[in-house]
Amino acid sequence: MHNARRDAVKRIASTALAVGVAPLLSACLDPTREDRAQRDDVVRALDPALADVLYHASLAPSGHNAQPWMIGVTAPNRLVISTARDRWLHEVDPQNRELLLSFGCFLENMIVTARHRGFHLEYQLVGTSPATSEILDVTLRRATPVAFPLESIQQRRTVRSHHLRAALTRADVQAITAPFGDHAAYFPFGSTRATWLAEQTIEANRVQAYREPAQRELSEWIRWADDDARRERNGLTPASMEITGLSGWYVRHFMTRADVMKPKFREQGLDAVRAQVGDYGGWLVITSADASMSTLIETGRLVERMWLGCRARMIAIHPMTQILEESPFRDQVGAQLGLAGRVQFLLRVSYIKEYPAPVSLRMPLSRLVSTL
Ligand SMILES: Cc1cc2nc3c(=O)[nH]c(=O)nc-3n(C[C@H](O)[C@H](O)[C@H](O)COP(=O)(O)O)c2cc1C
Repeated sequence: MHNARRDAVKRIASTALAVGVAPLLSACLDPTREDRAQRDDVVRALDPALADVLYHASLAPSGHNAQPWMIGVTAPNRLVISTARDRWLHEVDPQNRELLLSFGCFLENMIVTARHRGFHLEYQLVGTSPATSEILDVTLRRATPVAFPLESIQQRRTVRSHHLRAALTRADVQAITAPFGDHAAYFPFGSTRATWLAEQTIEANRVQAYREPAQRELSEWIRWADDDARRERNGLTPASMEITGLSGWYVRHFMTRADVMKPKFREQGLDAVRAQVGDYGGWLVITSADASMSTLIETGRLVERMWLGCRARMIAIHPMTQILEESPFRDQVGAQLGLAGRVQFLLRVSYIKEYPAPVSLRMPLSRLVSTL
């Protein structure tokens, strides 16, 4: 069903480019009626090429798939990218660190799609703290197109299952780490540091699963029922959590928010984490020199650029962030791994036999774009 959803969105987006974007892109939203009519008009007024740039930006990854971005159109070629406060993850990301990394991913998708569609994009950080709403001021000018394989954006996804226990080749490690300079380290399965990361990931998940507000926040971002998923178009679904087959059918019909708070669900989650860190290729650890807003955004850009190249190499990427979200793990991780700088991403990276199609939800542009 979610595959069909992503395909349908892609079909809609390309048809929209041909016929004028708005009514199709915003077919499934449900803010208030007036708000909806207004936002439809805003998307309809966009240059179709710009709408395509924004659509591809919206396919960026984000923690709990909260999609914490809003796009304000201040002039036909000028945008302000802001955070949506109601999509902040107060419990697992109180400093908006992950939010800014996600903004970097969003920005990278924007930049490469803009080039492909014949724009030169300039951006400026306008946010003065991670808690300010307005983050980036973006200007697009017409330029000679620079081709980019947009399918890599459309097909990128988080892959949590079926990682193979085979170390990445030296050439692949080199290719995916080189753009980070000194800020990426790879630890293959079985190495002391990989084993430490696996064990601590289980422990950090245990702490988070039993931290009531964090578990409640998670419960609020899971869209168990199909209707809920169709309405919200964000958050995690059974398909995106890779609960498929009969189990997928069962949870889509019978699981509720309250069930997420029960010990059984927490323990099943921990079992899944144990299985995930039992088989994989290695860990890719991304660090940064500091934790400034601009550094976090630039780190997010680099991670997204790397992620976009992984499907072609049959490399699955699974961020496992709990160590960075829970105490005391987050304060120890850099020193334990012998890394200078601040750890920003812990990614489980492995070869995979069959790369699955993307299934996570995305909100339509009409819920993201407004005029300022
Ligand atoms: C900053 C950041 C942190 C994330 N942390 C986790 C995590 O701890 N566990 C996990 O399974 N996925 C994690 N993800 C992946 C998101 O859940 C995923 O990007 C989102 O659900 C959208 O799915 P997609 O990547 O397949 O498009 C993280 C992603 C980002 C950008």
